[in-house]
Amino acid sequence: MGAFSDSLLILFLSLLSASNVFGSNICTSQGVTTCQHCLAVHPTCAWCSQEEYGKGGSGASRCDLKANLLKGGCSTDDLEFPSSTLNIQKDTPLSDKASGTADDVTQIRPQKIHIALRAGDSQHFTVSVKQVEDYPLDLYYLMDLSYSMKNDLVRLRALGNELAVTMGRTTSNLRMGFGAFVDKTIFPYMHTHPPEALANPCFPQATCVAQFGFKNVLSLTEKVARFTEEVKKQQVSKNRDAPEGGFDAIMQAVACKERIGWRPDASHLLVFTTDAVTHIALDGRIAGIVQPNDGLCHLDQDNVYNKTAVLDYPSLAQMTEKMSQNNIKLVFAVTSTVVPLYKEYSNLIPGSTVGLLSDDSGNVIQLISDAYARISSNVELELVGVPDELNLSFNATCLNGEVILGLKSCSGLKIGDTVSFNVEAQLRGCPKEKSRTFTIKPRGFKDSLEVTVDFSCGCDCEAEAQADSPLCSDGNGTYECGVCQCHKGRLGPTCQCSVEDYSPSDDANCNPKPGSAICSGRGDCLCGQCSCHDNEFGQVWGKFCECDDFNCLRFKGALCSDHGKCGCGICQCDAGWKGDNCNCSTQIDTCMSRIGMLCSGRGYCECGVCQCTQPGAYGDTCEKCPTCPDSCTLKKKCVECQHFERGQYTEDNSCSRICKDEIKVVEELVFHESNAAAVNCSYKDEDDCVVHFQYYEDETGKSILFVIKEPECPQGPDILVVLMAVAGAILLLGIVGLLIWKLLVTIHDRGEYAKFEEERSKAKWDTANNPLYKGATSTFTNVAYRGT
Ligand SMILES: *[C@@H]1O[C@H](CO)[C@@H](O)[C@H](O)[C@H]1NC(C)=O
Ligand SMILES: *[C@@H]1O[C@H](CO)[C@@H](O)[C@H](O)[C@H]1NC(C)=O
Ligand SMILES: *[C@@H]1O[C@H](CO)[C@@H](O)[C@H](O)[C@H]1NC(C)=O
Ligand SMILES: *[C@@H]1O[C@H](CO)[C@@H](O)[C@H](O)[C@H]1NC(C)=O
Ligand SMILES: *[C@@H]1O[C@H](CO)[C@@H](O)[C@H](O)[C@H]1NC(C)=O
Ligand SMILES: *[C@@H]1O[C@H](CO)[C@@H](O)[C@H](O)[C@H]1NC(C)=O
Repeated sequence: MGAFSDSLLILFLSLLSASNVFGSNICTSQGVTTCQHCLAVHPTCAWCSQEEYGKGGSGASRCDLKANLLKGGCSTDDLEFPSSTLNIQKDTPLSDKASGTADDVTQIRPQKIHIALRAGDSQHFTVSVKQVEDYPLDLYYLMDLSYSMKNDLVRLRALGNELAVTMGRTTSNLRMGFGAFVDKTIFPYMHTHPPEALANPCFPQATCVAQFGFKNVLSLTEKVARFTEEVKKQQVSKNRDAPEGGFDAIMQAVACKERIGWRPDASHLLVFTTDAVTHIALDGRIAGIVQPNDGLCHLDQDNVYNKTAVLDYPSLAQMTEKMSQNNIKLVFAVTSTVVPLYKEYSNLIPGSTVGLLSDDSGNVIQLISDAYARISSNVELELVGVPDELNLSFNATCLNGEVILGLKSCSGLKIGDTVSFNVEAQLRGCPKEKSRTFTIKPRGFKDSLEVTVDFSCGCDCEAEAQADSPLCSDGNGTYECGVCQCHKGRLGPTCQCSVEDYSPSDDANCNPKPGSAICSGRGDCLCGQCSCHDNEFGQVWGKFCECDDFNCLRFKGALCSDHGKCGCGICQCDAGWKGDNCNCSTQIDTCMSRIGMLCSGRGYCECGVCQCTQPGAYGDTCEKCPTCPDSCTLKKKCVECQHFERGQYTEDNSCSRICKDEIKVVEELVFHESNAAAVNCSYKDEDDCVVHFQYYEDETGKSILFVIKEPECPQGPDILVVLMAVAGAILLLGIVGLLIWKLLVTIHDRGEYAKFEEERSKAKWDTANNPLYKGATSTFTNVAYRGT
């Protein structure tokens, strides 16, 4: 069981990793029932709204890959498959240098993009930004005029002209303005006692001007000389508590666009000088001010903030938002005691910087020009109005073509440098609205890129939905995109059954046998019928959802080896294939060797592949086998036809077809050092000559037949020699026989003569008796005779 579940897990994982497995894919596996949902599953999913699609019992899913739907017979007209597109609508090239007016200066490219995006899909585009030389600059100097700033004011009076000159060097198109602030004109921020203190808070020690919240002294003007003039007229005031109301002043300086005179097409620098901490939002409660800051301009005819005692201090977020709307870059020029505090604020206010102001503001010029340099050396993209569902990611290409991943800013730039950003817009979900326009712009620049995104989340077919359609059980549902969306209380693909009519006893119809899972655990019993769930692997069907098209044998991950259909657990192989997993070809022509023998007679054909059984045999058709006993026999015929042009193959003209070997004629056979196979063969040809050849296969499998030039033929025999030899042999044998006979006769004769001599000398010579005489009668005795 464990091994089984392990293998299931492996199967499952391998399915997940392959997005498109035969019969099942990310689109079909989600149990999607509506077109809109289908499109949201994955950017590759399409929906078929054709009425009859999938009705023929094939159970094909309407939500599938586009190719599968077309294959399944869906017509292109009924296919819902919006694709993501990107269209650059305005692409004016970047300007080289600002001319007199900034109207025709282009600092960002492109300027307008239209994107259509499907959920889950993304589009890439590139934004280039250029710091154009001599860009107009608006500088508004906002000064704390509380009593402690008295010496600073004196110093600024002296420096005013120099400041104008220095900034004028940075850009020839400069406007300067001046504003001052103290704090809210209400107790406890203000001296209210003695009554004279209202007009002269320094009473009685000294004289100073009445306290004010914020005063726009000099709106931005090209007449930089007026800056010095106005600064010279300023006098300090005095408030009670240590923190000042500077944030009120910032808010007014930012919100009163027209009154301050910010040009829409210039860089905006707001310099905020103070030596004290500041009041922040909610501090107004001490004075009973509960109305939050509204972020609007409230300057009266005298250029004084007249809601200072009515509205609370603004929050950092309000200030940030307003500054970003108006492209204003804030420089906190503060004394050393409060630098850490303003650094913290600066971290929370994008686009702002902090500079250390000397006690008497002596370094204010350096500080401002440094801040300006720092700000203008930094390009940061700012996003306004991006919908939550859209994920924008950036890669910055800053100086030297260096790509910084995930960054939407570049620093260390000089005027005239161009940087670019690669932007990827990915739609993660479907927003309610159909389209949205947002902007991407470099902070502090007037130019912006306007991006309009159409969310391709809906289906066109939804427009043709028929409410109470007759197709959905006589008006029990809405027919939309090819499927019925049932009214409340109705169920089934055509809303054919009602929830009230349903009784649990119907469940018996959904049970193959009592005690087993309803609808095999892979479906719901609806009105007595199994409604099977498609699962991540594919489709499930059958009366009890017992069938599916994915639980079949696989081979190398392919269901039924891609050579058959999976039908309810069994592979139905296509023609030409067999086997449980259809991986076995029934063709044998691939096993036929060149000489027309199945696997060269050295093996058998299995699934279209030769299995060589003869030891040493190899090759697609086991045709290669130098060491096989019969290899000499096979190659002999080739030597015959290729070298001698005779024999069987020459007669039936099959030599060139069968014999692909190369013939090399040699004087003698050699031993080959290489590990290539070689075998020495010889045979007797029709002339009784012995042909020696060597069957050799090199490393590449090419076979070469080395044939000895001349066959070894026997010499013709010498008949005369043979005859003479035979005759000589016969003669010799005869002589030897005669000699032996003669010898034997001689020996016998000698013995007889010696016996005669002995007898003659021994017996008395009886002349009457001739010793040679033998009587004429002889007596014989019959031993077997017992005569009576
Ligand atoms: C502030 O000034 C504006 C513009 O002059 C005026 O309409 C408004 O009534 C004044 N508000 C207060 C509280 O004085
Ligand atoms: C946005 O996309 C980036 C990169 O593709 C990714 O790292 C980040 O997690 C995404 N953000 C969200 C909220 O999905
Ligand atoms: C940023 O670069 C990385 C790595 O080259 C790449 O995977 C990613 O898609 C890029 N992002 C954008 C927005 O181009
Ligand atoms: C719903 O279907 C039932 C039976 O199929 C039919 O009697 C009924 O009129 C239909 N309801 C509506 C609102 O048409
Ligand atoms: C066919 O599949 C079976 C089972 O996986 C395997 O043993 C056999 O080697 C395969 N045959 C071929 C020709 O690939
Ligand atoms: C073939 O004959 C040559 C020459 O006699 C010999 O050197 C070589 O070893 C033989 N090769 C084999 C495989 O017997």
